[in-house]
Amino acid sequence: MFRSSIRKFGTTALRAAAAETSSYGVRVSKAQGVVNGLTEAIGNTPLIRLKRLSEQTGCNILGKAEFQNPGGSVKDRAALFVVEDAERKGLLRPGGTVVEGTAGNTGIGLAHVCRSKGYKLVIYMPNTQSQGKIDLLRLLGAEVYPVPAVAFDNPQNYNHQARRHAESLDNAVWTNQFDNTANRQAHIETTGPEIWAQTGGKVDAFTCATGTGGTFAGTTRYLKTVSNGRVKAILADPPGSVLHSYIQSGGKLTERSGGSITEGIGQGRITDNLKPDIGLVDGSLNISDEKSIEMIYRCLDEEGLYLGASSALNVVAAKEVAEKMGKGHTVVTILCDGAYRYADRLFSDTWLRSKNLRDVIPKHLEKYIVLP
Ligand SMILES: Cc1ncc(COP(=O)(O)O)c(C=O)c1O
Repeated sequence: MFRSSIRKFGTTALRAAAAETSSYGVRVSKAQGVVNGLTEAIGNTPLIRLKRLSEQTGCNILGKAEFQNPGGSVKDRAALFVVEDAERKGLLRPGGTVVEGTAGNTGIGLAHVCRSKGYKLVIYMPNTQSQGKIDLLRLLGAEVYPVPAVAFDNPQNYNHQARRHAESLDNAVWTNQFDNTANRQAHIETTGPEIWAQTGGKVDAFTCATGTGGTFAGTTRYLKTVSNGRVKAILADPPGSVLHSYIQSGGKLTERSGGSITEGIGQGRITDNLKPDIGLVDGSLNISDEKSIEMIYRCLDEEGLYLGASSALNVVAAKEVAEKMGKGHTVVTILCDGAYRYADRLFSDTWLRSKNLRDVIPKHLEKYIVLP
């Protein structure tokens, strides 16, 4: 509810600003007006039409610019909603502690949200993660515990350690991003409505990959509901994830095997965030690392967009959905985060060779491989 009041305020402020500044030609792309603190700056991201891919397919290919969130990724939305859900349920009171198991963007989102709201943040992560990630979370104010990387069914798995840590404290919550459906709710209440409003309801398909499943499930749920089922929902899956084969086989869960250069996506099970909406899925695509890495370079060269690998995978999926649907359709996807945290790999000659991806980069894009 607070979102619509922000939007209303934002719209009024924007109109006033536009009236005042139109003679100077000022263009405001992020219609927010003034917001009260960092948490209210989450969401309301631009929907960017990818010009070259749209021309190439004869469709409108639109990317939701989630890298423009304050913490730099789509996970800011989930972070805000899991924290505010805990507050509403009385699990978190002033001065409390948030505990999560995460190695990536959710931790960064939570760190920003917790600082902004005055909570302490404790993060458990597998000790296989880079020192850079640990340092970043610590400098954002989190207490970080790198623990041995063991399977989920081992009690020492980082997620279980996070849960036990929260249970051992008073006024503390384990936010449990994978199975806490406040994550999915963030996208039902914000991402979905924003896409619908930004396209004026002219959206034919939505596609993206899943980690927790919150973004795909929540956005799909909203777009399906508001369009009476008209908007198609296509799940995009990286190598090493089981969801593509689960959907194609009509619900058979296989063992996870192999891996991908993408981070934050790919899944071995149906999370509680995905479960309520998996039946709404119209199809799925498996997107190879070769296609994703090439798209990182293409988006940079053709669109000026500096994207991480999960975003590039989503763009490949949107292009393939557009090609399947045919000219004249509008396909929306998620630009989850930027390439900043991954640059030392994605633009490194040595790293590309180590993944057998060096030869995938077309000649005219080789100039972007600037790191040894
Ligand atoms: C870079 C990146 N892309 C995509 C996702 C997937 O989002 P979700 O967890 O909502 O499925 C994540 C999740 O951590 C991520 O970090």
